Amino acid sequence: MIAPKHLRSAAAALVTTATLALAGPAFADLNVYEAEAGGEFGIGSAQQYGEADVQGRDFSGQDLRRSNFTSADCRNANFKGSNLQGAYFIKAVTYRTNFEDANLSDVLMDRATMVEANLRNAVLQRAVFTRSDLKDAVVEGADFTNALLDKTQVMALCKYADGVNPVTGVSTRKSLGCGSQRRYKASYPSNPDGPQVADDEKEAFRKTLPVYRQ
Ligand SMILES: *[C@@H]1O[C@H](CO)[C@@H](O)[C@H](O)[C@H]1NC(C)=O
Ligand SMILES: *[C@@H]1O[C@H](CO)[C@@H](O)[C@H](O)[C@H]1NC(C)=O
Repeated sequence: MIAPKHLRSAAAALVTTATLALAGPAFADLNVYEAEAGGEFGIGSAQQYGEADVQGRDFSGQDLRRSNFTSADCRNANFKGSNLQGAYFIKAVTYRTNFEDANLSDVLMDRATMVEANLRNAVLQRAVFTRSDLKDAVVEGADFTNALLDKTQVMALCKYADGVNPVTGVSTRKSLGCGSQRRYKASYPSNPDGPQVADDEKEAFRKTLPVYRQ
């Protein structure tokens, strides 16, 4: 017996869904496709590289605001001078990744492996690095104002942190709260007595949010 047409197409759709769910690498392909198409949000930035293998790739000087590098393998990739504001690097591997001069404000970089990453002169304001490993990262001139790092990471970075950010004029050591328990506490983002994010900065960030259809 032949099933009615609408039932057959429903069955075909089920088979397609099941095949997609089983085929792991298809997701990486989808991400590459989405990235080439300008990203899920179709706004030219916010590109999708989730779980993608972008080792050694050149992303220098690009507009990658709010892009998704969640669980991506970014080892030795080059993001020099890129604008990555609000990007997602959750659980990403950025071993020896070059972020020199990049704008990494508001990035979510928790649980990331950032060993020996190059953050020279990068702006990392309000970025979240909880449980991330920044061992031997280059931080000369980096601005960590209001960023959230584990205390052990701050202590390790303060052993050699140096320089002043050429864009914001903020001292790296000062932004990390090095050498001052009081200043460290005051600059800790979860401390309501610490410096607050200015309203115009909040507004500027809000403007970068994608507009979802109703
Ligand atoms: C980012 O990519 C990951 C992995 O592909 C995915 O699970 C997640 O939903 C994406 N997040 C956003 C905000 O696009
Ligand atoms: C980082 O990028 C955002 C969004 O483009 C911008 O508003 C902000 O001024 C930039 N920060 C710096 C220090 O250039």
